[in-house]
Amino acid sequence: MESITLHGKTFKLLASHSELCKAVEICAEKISADFHSKEPLFISVLNGSFMFTAELMKRIDVPKCELCFVKVSSYQDMESTGIISHVIGLNRNIEGREVVIVEDMVDSGCSMYNLVNKFKSEGAKSVKIASMFYKPDALKYPVVIDYPGMALENDFVVGFGLDYNEYGRQLPDLYVLDNDI
Ligand code: IMP
Ligand code: MG
Repeated sequence: MESITLHGKTFKLLASHSELCKAVEICAEKISADFHSKEPLFISVLNGSFMFTAELMKRIDVPKCELCFVKVSSYQDMESTGIISHVIGLNRNIEGREVVIVEDMVDSGCSMYNLVNKFKSEGAKSVKIASMFYKPDALKYPVVIDYPGMALENDFVVGFGLDYNEYGRQLPDLYVLDNDI
């Protein structure tokens, strides 16, 4: 589909599933090279990262890895809500662990800045970030994305796990809000 409508707004195709998977493949290769002989704990941040996580985990070659899922702050409408209050669902002791956060999008960087600090304060040996998307012009916090997928303009996108008020997560392709309409 070239364009879609969600909650009355029009979004146009930005990147196909196969283009997105090429970016995932590159992330996966780097992660495999860095962690092949280690025992990392991948922490996927729901809901947005479910599709990236599935595509990434299928492609990595790290025999002794673990994967768990957490939920953090919410993201409402088209604006980031800021500070994370707490992390839900982390049923693992991360002390001494090499953690790789698997995230859908780094926008202002607020969520990742807080989460990295939280995991470090809980004694993680190292904390790396794999993020499917990032918006360089929107970054406001000192966040380093160790495994970046695809850089985007500072526009609102949906699909490949990302939602607009909960719609659009299931779409395999990525769409951008069409401001011309
Ligand atoms: P940050 O804390 O400002 O970096 O926001 C990160 C979170 O906001 C991501 O994990 C996404 O869930 C959400 N987000 C940021 N930009 C978009 C977007 O363009 N579409 C949908 N969700 C977004
Ligand atoms: Mg997210």
